[in-house]
Amino acid sequence: MKPQNGITVTFRPGDRRAVVKQGTSLLEAARKAGVVLPTRCGGKSACLMCKVTVGADYAGAVRPPEEAERRKLGSLLEQGIRLGCQTAVWDDLSVTVPEDPLKAAVRRRLEAARRGEMDELW
Ligand code: FES
Repeated sequence: MKPQNGITVTFRPGDRRAVVKQGTSLLEAARKAGVVLPTRCGGKSACLMCKVTVGADYAGAVRPPEEAERRKLGSLLEQGIRLGCQTAVWDDLSVTVPEDPLKAAVRRRLEAARRGEMDELW
């Protein structure tokens, strides 16, 4: 049964939420939730920067991938990776936004510094 008052999309980490109309893309929902999904192609499935993970529990809450997305993502689809710009929502769901690579590198170095392992990383 579809929600009467819109679809609630929760972005993790951070549990930021947006209520959107059925058929809205995850990229649009992210913007509404204040979550930044990087994009260079403006949502034309060319840059692959808007990847998010839709867990298996929510696979039925989004539109299945079309041919262009299948070609772009290949086996990543099996891991639940989707293009935010091409994935329309049908029902309430949670998606995981990958950590920014630069932030991830900084976080790993800070964690290593706390453990006293800086020589291995620099
Ligand atoms: S925004 Fe470029 S592939 Fe989705």
